[in-house]
Amino acid sequence: MKVGIVGGAGRVGSTVCYTLVLLRLADEIYLLDTDAERAKGEAMDVLHTLSAVESDAEVRGGSDYGALEGCELVIVTAGAPRKPGMSRLELRGINRDIVREIAAKTAEHAPDSMLFIVTNPVDVLTYHAWQASGFPPERVFGLGTYLDTIRLRSMLRKELGIAYGEEAYIFGEHGDSMFPVFRLSESYPRERLMQVYREVRTSAMEVISRKGGTWFAPALAIAKVVETLSHGGRCTLSTYIEEHGLYLGYLAELSRRGVRQAEFELTQEEAEALQRSAQVVGRAIEE
Ligand code: NAI
Repeated sequence: MKVGIVGGAGRVGSTVCYTLVLLRLADEIYLLDTDAERAKGEAMDVLHTLSAVESDAEVRGGSDYGALEGCELVIVTAGAPRKPGMSRLELRGINRDIVREIAAKTAEHAPDSMLFIVTNPVDVLTYHAWQASGFPPERVFGLGTYLDTIRLRSMLRKELGIAYGEEAYIFGEHGDSMFPVFRLSESYPRERLMQVYREVRTSAMEVISRKGGTWFAPALAIAKVVETLSHGGRCTLSTYIEEHGLYLGYLAELSRRGVRQAEFELTQEEAEALQRSAQVVGRAIEE
């Protein structure tokens, strides 16, 4: 698979490149960034690992949109990250125009690609990327609540010994209105599950205040999405929700043709929580 990473010289973008090469999930990667020199440097640094992982992947960097030609997938990590104390929604003014421009240029140079948005606020920007690209909704999607779901499962295992494959998800906005969806044995007390969920909700900000950002867990989540696109499967991405006409974290069906909302029944309480997330994201899109 040929993959473009726009924002590829940044912390998340360059770590995604490294992870894709280590896990042998891409044959060709182009790191596109306004900082062309750094993009080239990151590409070279990753290239130097090839013999150690016995890979023939091609990795290049620069600022040339023409180099995205033939990409099956374009991952967008370009834009400003949060600073300590900032909500993801506060980034929308800065990152909206950046992502809209990238989506339009990607549609021009890689018209058959899938656009995978990571930049925050991810649900709002996935909607803008969809609008600006003119792509069908299934060829535009965002990282959504997949990283939150991975964090939740990691912590449920650590705190309560729950197996990684058990059904515990986070749905809704990748932001303050996210909510947990548990389909676990009744033997786990709800209050303990909710306590772990609340820790997960604030954990990204805790990492940001300690080290200035998050990139290892996001890069692995993104790589797992690339793998699932290749083989088919499900995860909680920012996917187009027909009922609300926008993108939200929901269980999604992935394939090389794109991403669609999966059949998954919500309880009354969960459906109301999804509705609240839709209102938050809808308002942020309109502002
Ligand atoms: P960073 O500042 O390290 O990297 C951003 C990169 O984007 C820089 O290299 C910059 O030169 C580049 N850039 C800026 N404008 C550009 C443009 N118009 N075209 C091409 N490149 C451009 O930031 P970091 O830490 O990599 O985070 C990137 C984004 O990812 C942030 O918005 C952050 O909030 C988001 N993020 C989202 C996650 C999620 O779960 N959805 C998880 C982690 C980060």
